Amino acid sequence: MTNQDKDRVSPEVNKDRVVIFDTTLRDGEQSPGATMTHEEKLEIAGLLDEMGVDIIEAGFPIASEGDFRAVSEIARSTKTSVICGLARAQFKDIDRCWEAVKHAKRPRIHTFIGTSPLHRAIPNLNRDEMAERIHDTVTHARNLCDNVQWSPMDATRTEWDYLCRVVEIAIKAGATTINIPDTVGYTAPAESADLIKRLIETVPGADDVVFATHCHNDLGMATANSLAAVIGGARQIECTINGLGERAGNTALEEVVMAMKVRGDIMPYHTSIDTTKIMHLSRRVSTVSGFQVQPNKAIVGKNAFAHESGIHQDGMLKNAETFEIMRPEDVGLAETNLVMGKHSGRAALRSKLKDLGFELADNQLNDVFVRFKDLADRKKEVYDDDLIALVTAGEDAEKDSLVIKSLRVACGTGGPAEATLVMAVDGVEKTALQSGDGPVDATFKAVRELHPNEAHLSLYQVNAVTEGTDAQATVSVRLEEDGNIATGQSADTDTVVASAKAYVNALNRLLVRRGKVGEDRKEISYKDVS
Ligand code: KIV
Ligand code: ZN
Repeated sequence: MTNQDKDRVSPEVNKDRVVIFDTTLRDGEQSPGATMTHEEKLEIAGLLDEMGVDIIEAGFPIASEGDFRAVSEIARSTKTSVICGLARAQFKDIDRCWEAVKHAKRPRIHTFIGTSPLHRAIPNLNRDEMAERIHDTVTHARNLCDNVQWSPMDATRTEWDYLCRVVEIAIKAGATTINIPDTVGYTAPAESADLIKRLIETVPGADDVVFATHCHNDLGMATANSLAAVIGGARQIECTINGLGERAGNTALEEVVMAMKVRGDIMPYHTSIDTTKIMHLSRRVSTVSGFQVQPNKAIVGKNAFAHESGIHQDGMLKNAETFEIMRPEDVGLAETNLVMGKHSGRAALRSKLKDLGFELADNQLNDVFVRFKDLADRKKEVYDDDLIALVTAGEDAEKDSLVIKSLRVACGTGGPAEATLVMAVDGVEKTALQSGDGPVDATFKAVRELHPNEAHLSLYQVNAVTEGTDAQATVSVRLEEDGNIATGQSADTDTVVASAKAYVNALNRLLVRRGKVGEDRKEISYKDVS
């Protein structure tokens, strides 16, 4: 066992140790459109474990068969992290959660109920009835599992006296971690620190449990509020990669971890996170969720380490610390330099991809190599970011029902654009000619002619991977159909081709989901409190 792993197995030995609880696969995945496939969830869980996350909240087992299966398999396959599942304050939820997490080396049940006046009104329980429900459900969870987390949802808008009362009940019933959620992103740093501090000072038994903070970013204060809570005495931060999550998202893991690392002088706490793995996880979560990271996002944004103005560059050349408070390599960012050309071989590509965090099996490497050669023929300079786009963009898989064979587009100022598309539909090649309001519109119409569908296009986003007119474009397309949501991505030096592939990629994912209705689709949300 490495020292990092030992620290994760018994972090409580150290009072300055902050436990990192990642909820990308539960609170993050709940974000409309961020749904991940089963394989993607397993991959992300594996990466979180390798990065040193202490606790992975792997899902909400009662929500759907898909969630249950994902949590169970993550529980079986994870090496070191604690695997946690979410459960409402109901016996059937808690039992289902336990069924899923019990396979883990170190399982945890996380049960919760909304305690603020607005949330108490949903199940129509008065204060006493809710207190009794909390006692019964935490006791039930603790009889199944010796690691139980309890959350009073909307804690920051719960009356102080009632909050103290229910936290005490949960501790007495056996909760080992008390999480204080700022469900609607309402609190502010001084208040966040004060709330945790006062709870620890006031509630009997508080010294025997870990206090956690769970912040949402509605007012842009999630990171600050989480760090303030730690200063107030919390020793667990709940967060997601890239801050993924409903509305404005959750606290971003990379931000709190790097803040404590860089400002250890005023926040003398440490985590077990291997920060050099941050960039890779950020890119994978962005790809599989379809939520692109804004360029100026702290730590993981494309511009976070870019120094473009002349004054900055001059200062950087003299001394990197002039404008840099962390080194790009601290977060696993390899320098973007000219890496490869059309004469580079397979071994060089494998080694470069390894440096970028991608270890590919031989067949995957062969596939990427073919696409790399094709790109190198069309693009003078192939940068690290080009390679990342090549590996991560959703490409047609052999098993896909829809595969683009060729696309020709004519457009200009003289009339509508025209697209001629040849696409294999379940192995049969078909051709469509469509005109439209621009080349992308014409292309999407051609796709719809060959594969009629009612899916609503809820997102169409184009980004340039690098500079220059021959830059690759990465395109994300999100589709919604009968409550199923699927996101497709693709990259190409031709924006229209990337758009067509991303659209078809999303349609293929939607087809897979359609075949699994009742499995991947959430039947209930954690907000359905009764
Ligand atoms: O934001 C929230 O309150 C939650 C709870 C389920 C912990 O996500
Ligand atoms: Zn939340």
